[in-house]
Amino acid sequence: MADFLSQYSIQRWLEMCPQGYLEDTVYGHDPDASEPDELMGDEDLRAASIALTVQLIAGERCALAASSGLVNAAPDDASKMFLATQTLDEARHVEIFTRRLMDLGVKKEDVNSTVADLTNPNLVKFAEVLLGKVEAGDFIAGVVGQNIVLEGMAFSVFEMMEAGSRQLNPKFAHTLTGTIADERRHVGFGENRIGSLIREHPEKKDEIEKMQEEMAFYMLAAFADSFSQSPPPPVEPAAAGDTEWHGVQLSTATPEEMEALLADTVLGEFKTRLGRIGLNYRQPKVPA
Ligand SMILES: [Fe+2]
Ligand SMILES: [Fe+2]
Repeated sequence: MADFLSQYSIQRWLEMCPQGYLEDTVYGHDPDASEPDELMGDEDLRAASIALTVQLIAGERCALAASSGLVNAAPDDASKMFLATQTLDEARHVEIFTRRLMDLGVKKEDVNSTVADLTNPNLVKFAEVLLGKVEAGDFIAGVVGQNIVLEGMAFSVFEMMEAGSRQLNPKFAHTLTGTIADERRHVGFGENRIGSLIREHPEKKDEIEKMQEEMAFYMLAAFADSFSQSPPPPVEPAAAGDTEWHGVQLSTATPEEMEALLADTVLGEFKTRLGRIGLNYRQPKVPA
C-alpha cells in the first residue's frame, strides 16, 4: 500500500503534471501558438474541427462528473486523494477544449448551445451508462466505467488525433500530448486500484461486464457517426507527411479504414486492461 500511496499522491501529481509537462504552457500549449491559417481559412475544416472539439468537451464533462462523484464513493483515502487530482485534470481538460472551441471562432456565449447542438447522441448515451453507476455510489463499476472504458477510449482517440495533427497543427497536438499523459495516469490508477476490489467482490463481475458491453456499443455507434462525416474528424487539416499511427498512414487512409483502426485499437486495449483486473471483455453488437 505504501507504493500505491506515494504513486498516486497529490505530491506526485504536482511534480509530474503542473511542475512537469504543463510547466510554461497556457491552456495546454505554448503561449504564442495558434490554430493554423489553413484551418481557420477553410470553412468546412473549421466546422469539422468545431464538431470534433465538441465531442471532446462532452467526453471531458462526463469524466469530470464521474471522477468528482467517485471521490465520495471511494472506500479509502489514497483513492480519494488520487481522484481529487483526477477531478482537477478533468476540469482542466474541459477548460482547454472549451478554449479551443473559442479559438476556432465560437463565441463564449454560444459555447453551451454549440455543445448541446453538436454532441453525438450516442456519446450522450455512453456517458449516461457511466454516470448512472457513479450516481448510485457504485465505486467498482464507476472506476471500471471511467478509468478503464471511458479513458481507454479517450487515450486511443487522443493518440490518433495527435498523430494526425502533429505536422500541421502543433498547437492542438501539444494540447493533446499533455492530455494523453494525464489519461495514462488515470488508466494506470484504474488498473492498479480495482483488481483487488474485483477479487473481493466477484459477485459484481456480471453487472460490470454488462456495463462495459453497453458502453462499448455506444462508443462504436459514435465512431460510426463521426467517420461518416466529411471531412472525417481525426486528421485536420488534411494531413501531410508522416502521420503514421499503429502502422497506418492517416494521411492516406479512408474514413472506413480509420474507423476500423480506431475501433480495433480501443477494443484491443479494453480486452488487455479488463483481463489484467480479472474481468472478461464482452464484444458488443455491431451498431446498425
Ligand atoms: Fe480527461
Ligand atoms: Fe482522464
